Amino acid sequence: MCGIVGIASSKEFPIKGELLARLKKLEYRGYDSVGYATSDGICEKGVGELVKFIERVKDGKARTAIAHTRWATHGGVTEANAHPHSDCKGNLFIVHNGIIENYEEMKKDLERKGHKFRTQTDSEAIAHFLEEKMGKGMEKAMQEFMKDAKGTFAVLAIRKGDEKIYAMKRDSPLALGLANGEMILGSDIYAFSDKTNKAIFFDDEEYAIIDAKGYEFFDSKGKKVKKEIKEFTWARQEESKHEHPHYMIKEIHEQPVAAERLIRSLEADQAQKVEKLVNMMKEADRVLFVAAGTSYFASLLGVYFLNKAGLKAQTLIASEFENFMYADKTTLVIAVSQSGETMDAVTALKFAKGKGARIASLVNVPHSTIQRMSEVSLEICAGQEVCVAATKTFTNQVVALLFLASKFGFHADFEGLPLQIEKTIASNEGKVKELAKKLKDRNDIYILGRGLSYPSAREFAHKLKEIAYVHAEGMMAGELKHGTLALIEDGTPVFSLIPNGDADMASNTKEVEARGADVILVSSMPGSQFQIPTTNRGIFAILSVIIGQLLAYYIARERGLPIDKPRNLAKSVTVK
Ligand code: M6R
Repeated sequence: MCGIVGIASSKEFPIKGELLARLKKLEYRGYDSVGYATSDGICEKGVGELVKFIERVKDGKARTAIAHTRWATHGGVTEANAHPHSDCKGNLFIVHNGIIENYEEMKKDLERKGHKFRTQTDSEAIAHFLEEKMGKGMEKAMQEFMKDAKGTFAVLAIRKGDEKIYAMKRDSPLALGLANGEMILGSDIYAFSDKTNKAIFFDDEEYAIIDAKGYEFFDSKGKKVKKEIKEFTWARQEESKHEHPHYMIKEIHEQPVAAERLIRSLEADQAQKVEKLVNMMKEADRVLFVAAGTSYFASLLGVYFLNKAGLKAQTLIASEFENFMYADKTTLVIAVSQSGETMDAVTALKFAKGKGARIASLVNVPHSTIQRMSEVSLEICAGQEVCVAATKTFTNQVVALLFLASKFGFHADFEGLPLQIEKTIASNEGKVKELAKKLKDRNDIYILGRGLSYPSAREFAHKLKEIAYVHAEGMMAGELKHGTLALIEDGTPVFSLIPNGDADMASNTKEVEARGADVILVSSMPGSQFQIPTTNRGIFAILSVIIGQLLAYYIARERGLPIDKPRNLAKSVTVK
């Protein structure tokens, strides 16, 4: 989490219009506090949203500066704990994304040597450590830091009166954008994708020294490293909300177009990659998915499609992968990740790679860490998703998985899908809006699914939790009678996702109805409160979730919640 930006420019640039505007593009990575520092020694920080900070601080100019938007890990959300952190004399400033695991040890040692700490963060230790070692020069100080530090870091450091940015990376993402007369560092390409499509991606255990004219990369021992410049493409117009009040609703409405774009890409531009991945899946003894949050629910659908098509597949939540999954050289591990940066997934992939497994992925963000770790990586082509809640990226993940499953014989009508998504939104949005008014004060909502509608029920509930702050549970309908049925009382809202002709789902729904639940049907059957225009089960899995996306959005609006930036969350989760 946390977003970091650094700019080294041949001309002076405005702090608000350039540095903080770039930071804004990374705000979805964390929004607890913000701050910046310049090579003139100016440092400003504040708690809360970036827009408010921008209103509050005086504008200025700089040629070299760094900035940070924080998702708090160590130390509360206070101004002192906001980055940048400085050394004792205020001559050196750092911003950090990651966790320094041995910071307490480092801090004690540095305090013994006379350093004065002002914050509760792990990151402050980096500034004092570099200050302590600076006598041998900044390069040696960075090498020693990389040798001694345990944990993860993308660090940018600047010094007063020095127009260079010093950068170090282990595990946390960091990229350098090469613009005209300007070098822009960022946690991801969004920081500079409006200015350049040329970037260099830091690998682990590398540091670099960057100024307006150029850059030099080194391994952690100081040996020069030659880096490849990568080119990427990005649809910039998607960064604006257009007529919508929130990114979430804009992104929900983008789903027909995004799905269409992906289908075309899988059929044409990415056809060779699809073929390669399908062959890898055929060659493997077992296909294991690894993912977190919404991407996990998408992968669970992938497992359903593939198993039904006769391919052995399993999935597991990334943070538990090492504990419960067996991998060896006959295994293919496919990571599903919107950001391509989720640390839990990266860690699981490293574990699997260590056991000899082959690695593939489905990502949305090109050149992300997970894509770079993969032998083959399909892009889900959803375009930038700004709202913390995944909507269009979930849909496209499932479309991509359906597409792969179709190569093994699972049937789905891809041609009709974009229109079906459009119809689902058009015919249900008004009704969802009305229902949201009724449900806005409910504390518990249950969603039932079975087989293929179970992952959809989980994702439906996930949206309600993270965006509307409703305690919602996506449950296996067949499992209710083994305990959870006791939670059902008169008037409990229960959504039932019934794929076409699922008789067991229908009778499980009757069981909750008989106990007084207020049942809301999401199905293709006439008379359902929310009608899904398909009888294809794979497509139903996608369309039924859209009802949950809309419901979460409209309940959150009724409740007056910060929809695009829900409390305590961040879009790119780069800590374990
Ligand atoms: O970037 P990833 O897809 O790997 O992210 C995984 C989860 O953190 C993510 O899906 C999270 O659950 C979202 N907030 C879902 O809306």
